[in-house]
Amino acid sequence: MSRLLQTSLIAGGKPAPRVVGGEGVRIRLEDGRWMLDGSNTGGPLGHRHPKMIKALHHAAELPVINEGWPWIEREQAGDELFETCFAGEDWAGAVRFCLSASEANDMALSFAQAYTGRSAIATRERAYHGFAGLSRSATVQPQWHGGLAVLDQPSKPAPTPFPVRQLPAPLGAKFGDPGTNETAAERLKDAAELLTDVSATLIDYTQGGYYHDPEYQDLAARACREAGSLWIADETVTGAGRFGQMFSFQAGTERPDIVVMGKGLAGGGSPVGAVIFSQELVDNLQGMSWRNYSTFRGHPVTMACIRAYLKVLRDEHLLVHVRRMEKVVEARMAELYDRHPSVARIDGNGLHWTVEMHGPDWRSFYANTSEVPLATKVVARAAEKGVMLATSGEETQVFIAPPLIVSEPEIHEIIDALEAGLEIADALYEAT
Ligand SMILES: Cc1ncc(COP(=O)(O)O)c(C=O)c1O
Repeated sequence: MSRLLQTSLIAGGKPAPRVVGGEGVRIRLEDGRWMLDGSNTGGPLGHRHPKMIKALHHAAELPVINEGWPWIEREQAGDELFETCFAGEDWAGAVRFCLSASEANDMALSFAQAYTGRSAIATRERAYHGFAGLSRSATVQPQWHGGLAVLDQPSKPAPTPFPVRQLPAPLGAKFGDPGTNETAAERLKDAAELLTDVSATLIDYTQGGYYHDPEYQDLAARACREAGSLWIADETVTGAGRFGQMFSFQAGTERPDIVVMGKGLAGGGSPVGAVIFSQELVDNLQGMSWRNYSTFRGHPVTMACIRAYLKVLRDEHLLVHVRRMEKVVEARMAELYDRHPSVARIDGNGLHWTVEMHGPDWRSFYANTSEVPLATKVVARAAEKGVMLATSGEETQVFIAPPLIVSEPEIHEIIDALEAGLEIADALYEAT
């Protein structure tokens, strides 16, 4: 019996099988099975990537230094981040590296509170921004309330010490029901008013299966400016590759005050987060010191991994590969939607796609149950076919997000397994 505190998606959940190894886009389980890794937003280069191994060997030789010490490779990582990811984005000013995107969102939000003198924060409905400090407060998916999901009892959410406003989400679908006929302007008509006392508004591009809508983003950005709220683009999932572009905000015309990155930025070789400030914010901080510090931020291991990932991204033209693979996924999703009556909606970009099934309203799911959610049943069936998929912890959504190095045959393998899982959902749907 392990001494680790169990994690589980529901109050009465069982632990998943142990992982004992990995290679390329596959991982090996304790029972000897090799599984195709179909959902791993933190591992864009898969497992045991030779360039990551080399970077980690190099980092093992480096001194152990904390964020208070200037370190040449941290400066190089910052320069390379700007050269690789922010080329042409002259408004972007400076980066501070940290340990996770949760932490980065917390840092960005607490900065915004201090900067604006306001305590309220805002996000859009069904958003997930992490679990450290203020990022947990900005995570508004009902099942991720940060507290305790108590079996068959009301959940005990962690309290939030300031108002958290929610904008309507950018609904949409590449296939199926987009959820609304309203335009982005209609959905956001009250946004500026909602944000009047808000310090910062976080907008992400995948959570809850709501993907990028440039018009929505630009309207939300303008509402922020009108209301005096900073706009933080949470590019944790989407930054530096997953959508086949550097950033999602680039599809719109407005530019954020702050960008948050994390997950794949260190190629999966190390935990990472990053907060990038606009040059305007940097200029306005003249004569001030941001009193925000942590021992392991900007650690040499993380810096070596960031630099290695950015090099692979550039040298191996990963964005071009992702855009090619996106076409393969999209064609398969079109067929999948036609074949499976249980599917309500599919949306996605690049190598991140969500399949939402018909079922109970996500607004009323708090995970205080031992009943296995539909999405988990689909994922379990896909696992029997040798593919690991993921749910967002919701009852009716499954998402795929394989390593960015995935090949076309591997994509077919992932979607074949997803389809096998959806047969279970179809049977249940047709029986109701
Ligand atoms: C949009 C978004 N922001 C922030 C986070 C938090 O990232 P981490 O769990 O790596 O801290 C996540 C994690 O899923 C995310 O999807």
